[in-house]
Amino acid sequence: MVRAVVDGVMAPATGKVAVLMPGMGAVATTFMAGVEAMRLGLVEPVGSVAQQGRIARDEDGTEEVAVRDVLEIPALDQLVFGGWDIYEGTAYDAALEANVLSAAHLEAVRPRLEKIRPMKAAFDQEYVRNLSGPNVKEETSKRALANSLREDIREFMARHECDRAVAVWCGSTEKFVVPSEVHLTLDAFERGLDDDHPSISPSMLYAYACLKEGVPYANGAPNLTVDCPALVELADREGVAIAGKDFKTGQTLVKTILAPGFASRYLGVHGWYSTNILGNRDGAVLDAPENFKTKEESKLSVLESILDREAHPELYEEMTHKVRIDYYPPRGDNKEGWDNIDIFGWMGYPMQIKVNFLCRDSILAAPLVLDLTLFLDAARRAGSVGVQEWLSFYFKAPQEVDGVTPDHDLFVQRRELDREIRRLSELPVALREGATVAAQIG
Ligand SMILES: NC(=O)c1ccc[n+]([C@@H]2O[C@H](COP(=O)([O-])OP(=O)(O)OC[C@H]3O[C@@H](n4cnc5c(N)ncnc54)[C@H](O)[C@@H]3O)[C@@H](O)[C@H]2O)c1
Repeated sequence: MVRAVVDGVMAPATGKVAVLMPGMGAVATTFMAGVEAMRLGLVEPVGSVAQQGRIARDEDGTEEVAVRDVLEIPALDQLVFGGWDIYEGTAYDAALEANVLSAAHLEAVRPRLEKIRPMKAAFDQEYVRNLSGPNVKEETSKRALANSLREDIREFMARHECDRAVAVWCGSTEKFVVPSEVHLTLDAFERGLDDDHPSISPSMLYAYACLKEGVPYANGAPNLTVDCPALVELADREGVAIAGKDFKTGQTLVKTILAPGFASRYLGVHGWYSTNILGNRDGAVLDAPENFKTKEESKLSVLESILDREAHPELYEEMTHKVRIDYYPPRGDNKEGWDNIDIFGWMGYPMQIKVNFLCRDSILAAPLVLDLTLFLDAARRAGSVGVQEWLSFYFKAPQEVDGVTPDHDLFVQRRELDREIRRLSELPVALREGATVAAQIG
């Protein structure tokens, strides 16, 4: 459940907002370059609900209004970008290396991107076996690393005269971690920091540092981070908003668009086989089995809640769901995904659907970073604390609230997003019976 807005009064969206990204690779630099190009009036904010979205204004859902006309959010000029990475190059160097954007786009924003240098990373190769780099903090103890990250946040905000900050993890997918005792309570976690507990990952150090500094935190990767009880407890205690996990892009986005359609027509599904080829650094990291396992768990979770085996064993009980990712360097960031969906209909007759999605991973992820930044900042100014379920729209594996996994259906998620935007904007929250679905979706 979304927590209540404190006293119903939202603080104004004035002043500068630091956007802090652990991991300045393909997604982070594509996001930054895009925002800079928008500031220059070169491109439109395609894919951003905060910038382009429209929601129903009245209870009948007949009148629509632009999200940015009703919800107070910072202008793009108020955002100041920063982050950490194990590589030393500027955001321009990293964007060149990622090879997502054209030379013309990059040249246009080069002066701005060249000013952004990553801070030294809290890194442990134990968690990301296929990477190593020189821009890494010297501190070795976990407590000292967390303190150093807190110092980075304070120093960055002071240097850039920021009023507030938001953090979005855009770092590599860490190896699969099974939650254990050290993740269960804040006390155990803090003892773990002092004892250098091996199950406290670098991403948890960033999250801990951000929450201690009052910075809302979103996890764009599938690794265990703010979705462990200890860090949820810390978010509640410090009064900070959190969200996660794993940006919903590409194949999973398509899955959560198609599956609700099959469910609403009571079509059966025998199986869904998904495979991808991907050649960017993310693909290289996921080539290690322990890192792929983290991604696989996240990708597999999406169908279960939409195609409900318990409610409809006759349609979904025997469904096989498989996901593969192969690292294939020639393809770079331009991932290609294939889905084979074995469905069945009237009298059990089988049919097949093939989907071939030639996508661009970071192009799909960048607007999500922008929306998460702007909406988490709104949540913070409204006093919203803890897991922000209304942001599930953006994630493959939406974070549980009180042990309940939020809905995976993209359209249900979009309604929840709109509802909370209306609430934060002081518009009627619930639409009247009979209001059109299109109006609710916006
Ligand atoms: N692009 C998408 O569509 C998409 C979708 C869902 C999730 N994701 C996730 O988003 C993340 C970023 O994706 P990407 O394509 O930008 O990957 P990338 O490899 O280009 O960038 C990740 C960066 O994180 C850095 N890094 C790793 N560990 C770090 C640490 N401890 N501290 C600081 N920096 C660290 C790496 O050096 C790298 O530069 C990945 O985890 C990916 O799985 C991406």
